[in-house]
Amino acid sequence: MSNDKTYSYHTHTAGQLRASDIGQHVVLTGWVFSRRDLGGLIFIDLRDRAGITQLTFDPDYAGGDAFKTAESIRPEWPLMVEGTVRERPNNQANKERATGDIEVLVESVEILNTSETPPFPLDDEAQTAEDLRLRYRYLDLRRPVLQKNLKMRSDFAFALRSALHDQDFYEIETPILGKSTPEGARDFIVPSRMQPANFYALPQSPQLLKQLLMIGGIERYYQIARCFRDEDLRADRQPEFTQVDIELSFVTQDDVIDILELCLRKAFAAVGVELLTPLRRIPFWEAMDTYGSDKPDTRYGMHLVDVTNIFKDASFKVFASAAASAGECVKCINAKGAGVWSRAQIDKLEDVAKKHGAAGLAWMAFKEDGSLQSPIAKFVSESELLQLKEQADVNPGDLLLFAATKRRAADEILGALRSHMADALGITQALLEGTYVGPSGEIAPAHDFLWIVDFPLVKYDEEAGRYDPEHHPFTQPVEADIKKLESDPLSVRSYTYDFVMDGFEAGGGGLRIHKRDLQLKVLELLGYDANLAEEQFGFLLEALSFGAPPMGGFALGLDRVCMLLAGAPSIRDVMAFPKTTSGSDLMMQAPSHVSEAQLKETGIKPSEK
Ligand code: AMO
Ligand code: AMP
Repeated sequence: MSNDKTYSYHTHTAGQLRASDIGQHVVLTGWVFSRRDLGGLIFIDLRDRAGITQLTFDPDYAGGDAFKTAESIRPEWPLMVEGTVRERPNNQANKERATGDIEVLVESVEILNTSETPPFPLDDEAQTAEDLRLRYRYLDLRRPVLQKNLKMRSDFAFALRSALHDQDFYEIETPILGKSTPEGARDFIVPSRMQPANFYALPQSPQLLKQLLMIGGIERYYQIARCFRDEDLRADRQPEFTQVDIELSFVTQDDVIDILELCLRKAFAAVGVELLTPLRRIPFWEAMDTYGSDKPDTRYGMHLVDVTNIFKDASFKVFASAAASAGECVKCINAKGAGVWSRAQIDKLEDVAKKHGAAGLAWMAFKEDGSLQSPIAKFVSESELLQLKEQADVNPGDLLLFAATKRRAADEILGALRSHMADALGITQALLEGTYVGPSGEIAPAHDFLWIVDFPLVKYDEEAGRYDPEHHPFTQPVEADIKKLESDPLSVRSYTYDFVMDGFEAGGGGLRIHKRDLQLKVLELLGYDANLAEEQFGFLLEALSFGAPPMGGFALGLDRVCMLLAGAPSIRDVMAFPKTTSGSDLMMQAPSHVSEAQLKETGIKPSEK
């Protein structure tokens, strides 16, 4: 190696060299991405996190030592090479690669380590089963796509952090070992050795601690916080995940949303996405009634249509009885293009509806030849059909899917069908690829951002027979509605806002109860009697009695936002070491058994399954 290098290991990254560097003497480090032996020359693509540079080994150059070494080199060996940048012969330039105009003619090479043959190819195109990739995640991470995702995540988080810092937020860490903070999931619990039969709970979010920070006079707090929730996992859910958690004192809902928009705009800008503020605000019930979801993707139509009025005197009993019952309705969506589906295909949709609580799924397929196919055809009159066609904008080739039940249930069933049909009809994929032409005739925007506001405070869980918080038990009800807490809880609105991106709940927040009496009242509504409230939240209730300020905040689901920014199918693709949907870390083999001695120390006896 030459003496004039300024870095211990390299002078440039493998993504850096261009035609303007031709003639330079350089030192590079990286991994062997691929190696080709061609007509007496050896070519190696050297890869580091910045990119890929082609190395050329010539037996007639610099005594041929480097060439000899290169003959033994295998994929994924880390190398340090020294050589000269030269232009690639004209027809060999690679226009798809930033370094594609040049190559490095290698003078000397040092093998920094060897490697076993990787169990799967590391190029992005390789379709390797995810389980295998997760088993060898450290190799998977070398793939350019994951490198890119993690860099984007880092850039986004850094920009958000710095925007919050600029707004005088303090970054404060809160404990991981604590007491249950309910966010609607099960807790992960940790046994205490020093106090046998006692357990810490891992935080589902730092919710209570950030409220206590506000009571502690911090005024503006944020944290890039790890949260733990023992719930069923999906593509957008992990048992541990990261929130950018935020709280402010002496604020209204508008104050919080304004400052969030300012900071989020900067963070999205840092990764090349324009957030046009102020964002749209859609009231909860408007979103439910239009899209059947409180996290709608509004880039495509397929809106819910209320057709209750048509079926007041219907001969189809299910519709007639829903139309006649207070609080119930008949609604439908028009899945344009699915009318040509086979009966068997359409019948399968009933499973989707049933999974979301439907008793059945009535449908009408309008065939291209003008005929109607439907399990309820014989019950539907000419006039009903005419009105339906008008109200639901029906054309040949359309498929109407119906829900007849309580308003919220009907909304949720059709909302689930709406997104199912968007997947099935290729709308979701087209949106991802930026090729979806919306009802306006224009290409839909790359991302869909909005706030959902005016959430109810609680919802009713029919099965459990109790009220559950729409967000969490610490949410501030709208003042004017507090008097209805006992008489009509479902009509009580709250100061809550969800940040929705591309049809996902990317974040949520609200104003908090800061008065002890009101907190007790809300806890009582949620089924906590005074004793239970004291046992679980005594520390909060006590703190609220010491001059708690009005406060509000928000938590952004960092993993979800990054998944959407990356256009990735799962949040696992933007996390370094994710778990499988059964909660396993396949690389570390966690969870795992622990020794008898460890169990004894904590006083725990596992029951054998
Ligand atoms: P919430 O429960 O809505 O609010 O969580 C905030 C955001 O965190 C993300 N998220 C998840 N991401 C990945 N895996 C999960 N299992 C998971 N669960 C939630 C979502 C969600 O919008 N303390 C309140 C916030 C507040 O009121 O300030 C809270 O935790 O993107
Ligand atoms: P039935 O008369 O019960 O055979 O129902 C006729 C059709 O209506 C079937 O396709 C059912 O799946 C469907 N259906 C039943 N209940 C409902 C409901 N509440 N909403 C929408 N469709 C329903």
